[in-house]
Amino acid sequence: MSRTPQPLKSIGSLLLVGAGKMGSAMLDGWLARGLNPKKLTVVEPQAGKPLKALTRRGLKLNPKGKTAEAAVIVIAVKPQTAPEAVPPLRPHVGKATLVLSIMAGRTIGFLEKSLPPGTAIVRAMPNTPAAIGRGITVAVANAKVSARQRKQASDLLAAIGKVEWVSDETLIDAVTALSGSGPAYVFLLAEAMTKAGIAAGLPAALAARLARETVAGSGELLHRSDLDAATLRQNVTSPGGTTAAALEVLMGPGGFDELLTKAIAAATLRSRQLAG
Ligand SMILES: NC(=O)c1ccc[n+]([C@@H]2O[C@H](COP(=O)([O-])OP(=O)(O)OC[C@H]3O[C@@H](n4cnc5c(N)ncnc54)[C@H](OP(=O)(O)O)[C@@H]3O)[C@@H](O)[C@H]2O)c1
Repeated sequence: MSRTPQPLKSIGSLLLVGAGKMGSAMLDGWLARGLNPKKLTVVEPQAGKPLKALTRRGLKLNPKGKTAEAAVIVIAVKPQTAPEAVPPLRPHVGKATLVLSIMAGRTIGFLEKSLPPGTAIVRAMPNTPAAIGRGITVAVANAKVSARQRKQASDLLAAIGKVEWVSDETLIDAVTALSGSGPAYVFLLAEAMTKAGIAAGLPAALAARLARETVAGSGELLHRSDLDAATLRQNVTSPGGTTAAALEVLMGPGGFDELLTKAIAAATLRSRQLAG
C-alpha cells in the first residue's frame, strides 16, 4: 500500500553507498524531508559539486579510517559492482542495522551471503521517475526486518515516490518487468505516436510535440484522477468516433494487450535469468 511521505527526522545514522542517478535522487529527497546532513555518510568515487558542497553542512564523504556502525545502509551501486562494494560494508553492520538495497537483480540471498549472519535486509525495486520524486518502488523484507525497520525503509523510499510491499521475493521479477522497465514502454509509446503522426502527414517537429505532451498530460491526468485508466479511456471514446476507430485497431488481435503481455513476460524471464 502506498504511504504519505513522512518527515525523516527519526532516522539515525545513514550510510549511502553509491550516489549516482538513483542514490542522489534519494539523497535529495531525504534532505528535502528534513534529514540532517550530519547523520549522513556517503561513499561515492565520482562525487560531484553538489555532494561535495553538502560536506559543509556536516555530511561525511568517503571517510577514511575508523568504521562506524550505521543505523541504515542504503546500497545504490550498479548490480555488477555489488561483489566488490557489498562485502566491505560488513564492519558497518551492527545488530540493529537495516540494509536497504535498490540494486536490480541482486537477491536477498546474495545480500545475506555477502553480509554478517542475521542482517536485516530490504530489497527494493524503484523506477526512473524517482528522479523527479514520482517513482514507484516495490520492497520486500527478509525475516530479520522489524516493524520499525520496515517503517524506516518505507520512509526512506517515500522520498522518491510511492512505495508498495510484497512478501514474496519472486514477484520482484514481474515488478521489474512492469514498473522497473515500464518507463521505457511509455517513452516508446511517445516515439511510436510521433512516427505514426508523421506517417499521417504531420510535420516531424509538430508530431513530436503533440506525442510528448499527449503522453505527459495523459499521465498527469491519470495521476490526479480518482478514476481508473479504463474509465478515463471510455470517457474520451464516443461510439463511432475517431478514438473508437483507433481503439478497434489497438484493442484488436495482436494489439496492445497481446503485445504488452508478451513484452512483460519476456522482461520477467530476463529478470529471472539475471538474478543473483
Ligand atoms: N536508474 C534507474 O532507473 C534504476 C531503476 C531501478 C533500480 N536501479 C538500481 O539502482 C542502482 C543505481 O543505479 P543508478 O542508475 O543510480 O546507477 P549509477 O548512476 O551508475 O550510480 C551508481 C554509483 O555508484 C558508484 N560506485 C561504484 N562503485 C562504488 C563503490 N564500490 N562504492 C560506492 N559507490 C560506488 C558509481 O561510481 P562509478 O561511476 O565510478 O562506477 C556511481 O556513481 C542500480 O543497482 C540499479 O540497478 C536503478
